[in-house]
Parts: sequence; C-alpha cells; structure tokens
Amino acid sequence: MLGNFTYHNPTKLIFGQDAMDALAAELEAYGPNVQLVYGGGSIKRNGIYDQVVAALAAAGKNVVEDAGVMPNPTVEKLYEGARIARENHVDLILAVGGGSCIDYAKAVAVSANLPEGVDPWQKYWVDFDEPAVDLDVIPVGSVLTMVGTGSEMNCGSVITNHGAKMKVGHVFADARVFPRFAVLNPEFTYTLPRYQMVAGIFDIMSHITEQYFSGEDDSTSDYLMEGLMRSLIHSSRIAVKDPKNYEARSNIMWVATWALNTLIAQGKATDWMVHMIGQSVGGYTNATHGMTLAAVSLPYYRHILPYGLHQFKKFAINVWGGRPEGKTDEAIAQEGLDAMEAWMKEMGLVLHLAELGVTQDMVEGIAKG
Ligand code: NZQ
Ligand code: ZN
Repeated sequence: MLGNFTYHNPTKLIFGQDAMDALAAELEAYGPNVQLVYGGGSIKRNGIYDQVVAALAAAGKNVVEDAGVMPNPTVEKLYEGARIARENHVDLILAVGGGSCIDYAKAVAVSANLPEGVDPWQKYWVDFDEPAVDLDVIPVGSVLTMVGTGSEMNCGSVITNHGAKMKVGHVFADARVFPRFAVLNPEFTYTLPRYQMVAGIFDIMSHITEQYFSGEDDSTSDYLMEGLMRSLIHSSRIAVKDPKNYEARSNIMWVATWALNTLIAQGKATDWMVHMIGQSVGGYTNATHGMTLAAVSLPYYRHILPYGLHQFKKFAINVWGGRPEGKTDEAIAQEGLDAMEAWMKEMGLVLHLAELGVTQDMVEGIAKG
C-alpha cells in the first residue's frame, strides 16, 4: 500500500539544445544583483561561461563572481560565499556547474542572511534545523553541466567539513531551497571527463536503487524506477562508447533529474544506507561522490539480499531481464546483482574502496560516521 504524502516540486525545468536561449528572460523575474557561482574553470574552457555572461548582460544584471567551488564543497567556502552574498545584497544566486555548485548555492542561499552569531554549519548540517519562516532565503537558479546528483530539481545540499571529517547532506523541507529554475542542455555535458561521466551515471543508478530496495508493496514508484533504470543502462552503454550521442546523453540527463527530484520516493520507505556510507568515505578521502557509491554498493547489497529477496528478485527480472524458471529466489536475485556488477565493470567504475585512498585505519571512523 502506498503511504500518505503531499508532493510539491516548484522547480521550472528548461530542457534541450536551445535551453540557454530562455535564460535571459528567466532572469528578469529577479532583482539586479546576481552571484554567479561556478567551479574550477571547466565552464570557461567549454564556452558555457560566455553564454551565461551574455544572458546576464542581456538581462541587465550586476554580476558578482563567486568562482572556485570545489567538488564536495567545503564549509570554509560556504562561509566565504555567504559573506559575498550578504555584502553584495544578492537577489539571485546562479549556479553554473554540477551538484557541487548547486548544493553550494543552496547552502549560501539559506546562510547569507542568518542573524549574526548563528553558524550555518551547526544549524543546518549538525542540528538539521530549517530556515526560519521570516529568514530571507535567496533564490537559486542553475545551469547544469554535470549530470548525476539531481540537485537541479531537489532540496538537497551536501557540505563537507574536513576538520571534523564529516560530509553531510541536508534535504531541506523548506520549498524555498529548491532551485527556482534549471537550464538543462545535454550538450553541456559532452566535455565531462569520462571518469566524471561514469561516476554521475552510477550516482543516478544508486539514487534509484536506494529507493527501490525497500518495502514489498505493489508501488507505482517501483514500476517507474524499473523504467528509469532500464533507460539508464541502455543509454549509458551508448554514451561510454560515443560520448557525443545526443539521444543517450539527453536521456541520461532526464533520468538523473527524475531519479532524485523526490517523485519516486513518494509513498515508499527508502533506505539511503549506501549514500550514508559513501558520504562517510567522502569525509575521509574527498573522493568523487559516484565512485564512493560504486565501491560500497555491491558488498552492501549482497549483504542485505537475504532480507530483501522480493525486491532483489524483481530487480533481476524486470531490470536486467533475468529468467526465473527453474531457479530459487536466491539464485535469480543473485543474478541481478551479478548483472549489475558486469555493467559496472563495463562502465569502468571503481569497485574497491582502496582505489579511493581508503586505508585500514580509516575503516572504524567511516563506519561510525
Ligand atoms: O569545477 P569544474 O572546473 O567545473 O569541474 C567539475 C568538477 O571537477 C567537472 N565538470 C562539471 N561539469 C563539467 C565538468 N568538466 C567538464 N565539462 C563539464 N561540462 O566535474 C567535476 C565534478 O563536479 P561536481 O559538481 O563535484 O559533481 P557532481 O555533480 O557529482 O556533484 C557532487 C556533489 O553533489 C553531492 C555530492 O555529495 C557532492 O558533494 N550530492 C548532492 C545531492 C543532492 N543535492 O541531492 C545528492 C547526491 O547524492 C550527492 O550527495
Ligand atoms: Zn548521490
């Protein structure tokens, strides 16, 4: 049986090869001061920066640049961004990049106007407080360049505190934290290095499996997830061989958004244990998010398989095309995970934590985290 829920997602998506054409008009809804958030410079090399700056100019905005957002954005960078937003009376934060830039923009949005003396890290990522109703939460918009996290259409923001060896995600309940709009042009992902592309593909897969491997009820969400996984597997096989295949890259982008815009979680219990272990690994190693998930998924799923036979069997048959005839439930369920392992090898994903720099002395801390 489906549980009760209220579903509300306010993000406006603008999708396709011409999506950027809509940016200037979209910007008109906001005040004059825009904080332009981006990462280490990929957008300058692939020309996306010039297109964004042209749209900002066409909309007559005053731009304050906030560059250098690192993969796995840090609490120190958050403090800096909040100061920039506050000092410049920013009306809109425009994040141009992947999940790190968008997560960071959301974090700045809820932190910039906090009362003096309130520490955003403590408030949002330790105490999991929500922004006060009268807090001025700065609107966020995004131009997506890396596919995987779903941050373009969700309320999550992951911040890393290396001092505390903690990487923490806060999924805000406050709808003001969703990006107001997201510009999604699949061609913008063509320049991603292969390592990032496949890490993103696995991040998408993991978002779906985290929500799929729970409960045994007949759930529309499970049917949706099976379709999303089949589309992802199909397109990923094309994209690794032909990264500029628009059909494959556009479908992967669309699957990513639906995998974690909270729709498929409605009415279901969800797990997120792989992400929790992965985040803990990230707190120690700063490894690429999708690779931390790839390294822990198979051992974790093989461990829990006996407790979730119903879902693992369904996964094997409906996602990977396994044939159950003459096999025990356990055998067919195992085949599903074997098929996933073969696909992961095909993608070139990291399968062992040691490859990400995890050493024996970190294991206890990672497990506790
Ligand atoms: O910084 P630049 O130079 O832009 O380079 C980036 C970065 O090094 C590069 N890149 C991005 N777009 C590119 C490109 N390079 C060439 N061409 C392009 N078009 O890719 C690298 C990785 O980018 P990043 O934004 O870090 O990757 P991702 O989108 O995977 O985001 C990871 C962060 O999101 C969090 C992760 O924990 C991590 O901190 N997550 C956020 C979630 C959410 N909001 O719901 C959920 C996820 O599970 C995840 O935890
Ligand atoms: Zn993820």
